[in-house]
Amino acid sequence: MTTPQPPALQYSALQLAWLQELGIEKPWLPSEQPPASKEIAVVIKQVRTPAATDTVPPAAVMQPAARLPSANKNRSPAPAPVSSTSEQTKVDTQPLAAAAMDMHALAETISACQACGLCRERQQAVIGEGVMQPAIMVIGQAPDDLEDRAGKPFVDRSGLMLDNMLMAIKSSRTQNVYVSNIVKCRPPGNRNPKPAELASCKPYLLRQIELVRPFSILAVGRAAQSLLETDQPLDQLRQKTHTFEVAGQKIPLIVTSHPVNLLNHPSEKAAVWQDLQLVKTVSGL
Ligand code: URA
Repeated sequence: MTTPQPPALQYSALQLAWLQELGIEKPWLPSEQPPASKEIAVVIKQVRTPAATDTVPPAAVMQPAARLPSANKNRSPAPAPVSSTSEQTKVDTQPLAAAAMDMHALAETISACQACGLCRERQQAVIGEGVMQPAIMVIGQAPDDLEDRAGKPFVDRSGLMLDNMLMAIKSSRTQNVYVSNIVKCRPPGNRNPKPAELASCKPYLLRQIELVRPFSILAVGRAAQSLLETDQPLDQLRQKTHTFEVAGQKIPLIVTSHPVNLLNHPSEKAAVWQDLQLVKTVSGL
């Protein structure tokens, strides 16, 4: 029996021109034998409190990448701590205290958090990785089992697809992107997080955004609806520049498909390409 193949991709002349201009006319989909994964330079995984004798800055507070969007140069200093905005749900005081934390304290607190039931089945919290003050902060909904094991967001095929999407706009986690999720612990069975779980984790994400100081946010898949607090279908949220406000900072937010969706529906790539062009523009890349 032959396995049904997905339909061949169709590009318009304009899309082909874009792809060729950027030298990425080859497909984004990883081959069956993906290249050996790159070492990620800046990973917030196992967090420790820096000793007074440390001479090298720990990963979580590493200096921004050399190449930042030009508009970043004129940005104001880091804003004041954010106050929690989780209205609907009873919120544990642990996340609420996040507003005053630096990145190390935040990562340690998240790693030990028991504010909701997700802590019971996690192997580890997945905090984020990438560079500080990035052009783009990619935000997904929640880690799945692979991320839970790896302690890193977007690994394996979805991670490779995300990296290829970023490469299409000459960006990467090691250069000018930070990647994270709204919920830091894997929901059992990779289900969608419940509203209470999203609300519990929200103060962590707000503080994380405030500390990371991205120039733009790329919300992938359901994370877009969660961040924008809307039930509108994803397609209606795309190709628009939304605003996500954290501690008085208005950050442009662009919506696109989840990388996993592209693995399953490669014909979506043309629309994602357009989303990437928009995020590229608003980021000043
Ligand atoms: N899906 C997400 O939304 N986040 C991850 O980290 C991995 C898969």
